[in-house]
Amino acid sequence: MKDKNSIGNIINVAVGVCLVCAVIVSTAAVTLRPLQEENRASFRQLNVLQAAGIYEPGMNVSEAFQRIDRRIVEFDTGEYVDPPGGFDPVRAVRDPAQSRALTGDPAGIGRRTHYGEVFLARDEAGRLERVILPVHAYGLWSTMYAFLALEPDLNTVAGISFFEHGETPGLGGEIENPRWQEGWVGRRIRDSDGNLVFRVDRGRTPEGVPDADYRVDGLSGATITSRGVENMVRFWLGDEGYGPYLAGLQRRIQAGEVM
Ligand SMILES: Cc1cc2nc3c(=O)[nH]c(=O)nc-3n(C[C@H](O)[C@H](O)[C@H](O)COP(=O)(O)O)c2cc1C
Repeated sequence: MKDKNSIGNIINVAVGVCLVCAVIVSTAAVTLRPLQEENRASFRQLNVLQAAGIYEPGMNVSEAFQRIDRRIVEFDTGEYVDPPGGFDPVRAVRDPAQSRALTGDPAGIGRRTHYGEVFLARDEAGRLERVILPVHAYGLWSTMYAFLALEPDLNTVAGISFFEHGETPGLGGEIENPRWQEGWVGRRIRDSDGNLVFRVDRGRTPEGVPDADYRVDGLSGATITSRGVENMVRFWLGDEGYGPYLAGLQRRIQAGEVM
């Protein structure tokens, strides 16, 4: 009779168990991938709606998202483009043909894609209600990703929603606290001369300062994260970010070409 405890038998059983487990894990990974991608897309849509101030609990996200137009913009010209094969920001930033290294790089992101996404929310009459811009920058530990929504004046913040980061919970991680995000609503980015003056304070914005409209409270004990957030807004709304696009859209709105 064959010895059950022989080395050969033990190896056979171990290899067999490994093979069965490998097949189960690989099958699960492959079959769940489309579901994971769907969930990721839905989470992004939810955050666009939240930044825009459109989301209400219980809402059907993909239905609500139908009033949002996704467009692709060329940063340098500020014009809409329609790249053949679409645009994937995650892939594009790794591709030297679709992105470039930044010099200066105040946002600490290394590279910027040539194109970027914008989301346009319209009301029931088809009028432009919000412009939502994906933005990101490096904080203390991590790259922080957010959607920043602007009112149709393209200068007043309608909302912000941070949806991915690795800052410390309770410190820099407070960027995802809805109460802190509420403090952004109504803040402005540029002054009446067009200078980009928005800033994130160190701690609370002092009472009664004349430029309070351009300032949001910093996060206590997280000055480096707060600085990253300020740099993020200044970079992406500046000349190397969505600045040329927003200036062009502003002209078209004033000329009555955009409803
Ligand atoms: C465990 C640990 C986690 C921290 N996490 C953060 C963080 O997420 N963001 C941040 O800006 N500072 C964080 N800090 C604090 C920074 O090291 C630094 O002291 C701080 O940002 C300086 O700003 P302050 O003057 O507000 O303390 C952390 C410190 C420790 C010890």
